[in-house]
Formats: sequence, structure tokens, C-alpha cells
Amino acid sequence: MNNPANRSIELDDICEFQVLDAVQMTVHQFAESLSHIIDAKDHCTYNHSEEVAVMAQTIGQQMGLSAKQADILHVAGHLHDIGKVGIQDSILKKRGPLTKSEFNIIKRHPEIGAQIMAPVLPFSGKNGIVKMILHHHERFDGKGYPHGLKGHEIPLGARIIAVADSLSAMLQHRPYRKAMSYEQALDELIACTDTQFDPKVVDAFFGVREIIWDYLGSLHKREGAA
Ligand SMILES: [Fe+2]
Ligand SMILES: [Fe+2]
Repeated sequence: MNNPANRSIELDDICEFQVLDAVQMTVHQFAESLSHIIDAKDHCTYNHSEEVAVMAQTIGQQMGLSAKQADILHVAGHLHDIGKVGIQDSILKKRGPLTKSEFNIIKRHPEIGAQIMAPVLPFSGKNGIVKMILHHHERFDGKGYPHGLKGHEIPLGARIIAVADSLSAMLQHRPYRKAMSYEQALDELIACTDTQFDPKVVDAFFGVREIIWDYLGSLHKREGAA
């Protein structure tokens, strides 16, 4: 899979930013700490950004991204919902269905997140982290938001995060619904392929489904031990 001859041109869309290892580590730790702001605001999504970071990185590796590109996806996974800091708690934490106008307010979080991260120049490259944050709620059929991008108009990193984000959300309890089992969530991913999700990303996920299952198991074991 990682044979350069098999790499599609699209994979090169995620430009690698060149930083020294120690700085790169700090960027990751800083992204992790920023994601705790969302956890502190909305504790029911605790662990969500960590799960999205690891799952997106694993799927990216399976698709043939370089280690550096997959690391960038990991950082983007931590930050994908950072724009929720700009959404009022009464809407973010509402237990029950949102009204249309409340949902329209929630839908602003990708743009708010992109604005928050825009000053970080290495994140602002072509199809870089800012674009992944901005487009993580686009759908493959063009019915997502904020821009209604379709298919390969959506940056690859955002298409990968969309799958990891939905999977993590389906597996976690929410005030208004119970968590799905892994099998139920996988059935849902298949049902939404081509409409919500890029089939190539879903295919790559199924290549690493056991690895991701083991990761989720170890994460929850650690939590139980804490
Ligand atoms: Fe991390
Ligand atoms: Fe989101």
C-alpha cells in the first residue's frame, strides 16, 4: 500500500509541513491541549477528538499517506471541532432535538474553527489542517456544509476525518441517544457510503477495522483503570 508507485496524485494534496521533530511534538501536544477546551465545555464528547485523531491517522496510513502526512491528519483530528468554543453552551449541551435555527448555529463551528487556526501559517497550506477543519462536515454527495463541496472537491484529509468523526460519534453515548455497537456503526458506515462518505476512505477503514477496534478497547480499558 505504501509503495510509491501505487500512490495516487491525490495523496500529494496533503502538503507536508517541514518542522523539527521537537517542534512537531510540541505542535501535537498543543493541539491535544486545545482539544481539552472542547472536552471541558462538553464532557459528553470526552475522548472524541483523541479517537478521531488516531482513527484518521490510521486510515490515512492505510490509504498510503506518508508518516508525516498521517501525523498532520492526527493533529487535524484533535482540532477538528475546536470551533465549538464559539457555540453557546445552551445549544451545544442541549439534551434533546435541536430546532432548525439551533442547528444552523451549530453548523457554524467548522468556519469558526478554521478562523481560529488560520493564523498558524503551516496549517494554512493547500488542503492543510485549516481546510480539513473547514470541510469536515461536507458530504461526498455535496449535501454537507459549509460549502456543499462534492466528491473530490472536498480535501482528502476532510473526507478521512468525516469517517473517523462519524464512527467515533456513533460509538459514544450522547444525552439524546445510546452508543451503537461496533457492528451497528460499521453497518451505518456502509449504508452511508457514496452519499455521506468517500467509498475509498470507507474501504481503507475496513482494511484497519481490527486495529481500530483494538485501539478503542485499549482506550476504554485505560479509562476503566483510572
Ligand atoms: Fe494525539
Ligand atoms: Fe464537527
